[in-house]
Amino acid sequence: MKKIEDYIRTIVDFPHEGIMFRDVTTLFADARGFRMAIDQMLHPYAGLEIDKVVGLEARGFILGGAIAHQLSVGFVPIRKKGKLPGTTISQDYKLEYGEAIVEIHDDAIQPGEKILVVDDLLATGGTAEAGIKLIERLGGEIVSCAFIIDLPDLGGRKKLEGMGMDVHALCA
Ligand code: PRP
Ligand code: ADE
Repeated sequence: MKKIEDYIRTIVDFPHEGIMFRDVTTLFADARGFRMAIDQMLHPYAGLEIDKVVGLEARGFILGGAIAHQLSVGFVPIRKKGKLPGTTISQDYKLEYGEAIVEIHDDAIQPGEKILVVDDLLATGGTAEAGIKLIERLGGEIVSCAFIIDLPDLGGRKKLEGMGMDVHALCA
């Protein structure tokens, strides 16, 4: 049987020279691959209390939407600056190939809500760290952070575990 990593392709020098870009669109486009990814991402959370799923733009929306539906809970997007229409709070961060600002609606999470953070890939951890800070500023309690891919050499897992986070990834 094919494994998750068999569905993911690597594009060399995208979006900049020297970056080995892990492209999950080939995983998402395959019926068995996508279903396997969602099922495996959900596995560690069976029986746990989760009130909302937060997805990180952009591929975290695709995964987070499917996971929220499966858990029968709400979905909250964290978006790049300027995309959310309501009142937001912001957080800047660095990533493997640049800098950015992410935002969340300030009424999207209620204090004490139990949150599952979802994205496709953990590299430096800058994106996830910014998302975690936004969720915690709103009073959310993060149950865990779920990814398809962890690139351990870039230190993201260590960064998040150093913040006290539970981290799950399907492959490296
Ligand atoms: C990618 C990926 C993660 C982030 C991981 O998104 O989907 O969100 O980088 O990198 P980090 O751990 O170093 O922060 P990207 O910033 O390319 O944005 P996109 O999904 O909107 O294309
Ligand atoms: N985000 C940061 N680094 C990445 C990589 N190597 N592939 C895909 N997304 C990324």
